[in-house]
Amino acid sequence: MIQAVTVRVARPTDSAAVERILEASYPALMSHAYAPAVLEEVLPLIMTANPQLLGSGTFYLAEAGDEPVGCGGWSSERPGTPDIEPGLAHLRHFGTAQTWVGRGVGRMIYSRCECAARAAGVRRFECYASLGGEGFYSALGFERIREVDIDFGRGLGFPSVLIERRI
Ligand SMILES: CC(C)(COP(=O)(O)OP(=O)(O)OC[C@H]1O[C@@H](n2cnc3c(N)ncnc32)[C@H](O)[C@@H]1OP(=O)(O)O)[C@@H](O)C(=O)NCCC(=O)NCCS
Repeated sequence: MIQAVTVRVARPTDSAAVERILEASYPALMSHAYAPAVLEEVLPLIMTANPQLLGSGTFYLAEAGDEPVGCGGWSSERPGTPDIEPGLAHLRHFGTAQTWVGRGVGRMIYSRCECAARAAGVRRFECYASLGGEGFYSALGFERIREVDIDFGRGLGFPSVLIERRI
C-alpha cells in the first residue's frame, strides 16, 4: 500500500526528525554536485536542525505515517541575518529523504509555504539553492538571479544559486 504523505507545521521538539530527514537526503543527493572535501566541511553545518526555524511556525514537516520524509519552510529574515524587506521572504532548509524523492513531497511543502506566505503579505520568494536543487526550484517557477558562494566562515565558500519567484 502507498502511504499517504501529510504536511504539518514543525515544532521545536521535531529537531531529531528534521535531522533524520536531512541525513537521509543531503549526503546522497548533493554528492553529484559537490566535491567530497566541500561536503565534508559543509554537511555537518547544513544537516543540523535550525531551532529558530523550528519555532517559527513557518517550517514544515512531511510525514508518511510516523516516518518523517521531508522538510522545508520560509522566513522573513534573510538567512544568516536579521534583515527583513517588506513583501520578501526566503525559502529555507528544504530536504526530502532520498527514498522519497520524485514523489511530490517537496512540491507539497512548497505549496504550504506559498499559501502561508501569501496570506502574510509576501509577494516574492528568494532562495539560496544548492547546485543540485536548482532544477527542483525551476520546476516550481523560480528563476536564477546569480551564482553565489555562501560564506560558512573558516574561509569556506559553498557554491550556490540565488533564485527568485513572484508569488
Ligand atoms: C530538491 C528536493 C528537495 C526535491 O524534493 P522532491 O520531494 O524530490 O521534489 P518533488 O518530487 O516534489 O518534485 C517537484 C518537481 O520538481 C522536479 N524536480 C525535483 N528535483 C529535481 C531536480 N533535481 N532537477 C530537476 N527537476 C527536479 C520534479 O520533477 C517535479 O516536477 P513536476 O512536479 O513538474 O513533475 C530533493 O531532491 C532534495 O532534498 N535534494 C537534496 C537537498 C537539496 O538540494 N535541497 C535544496 C536545498 S536548497
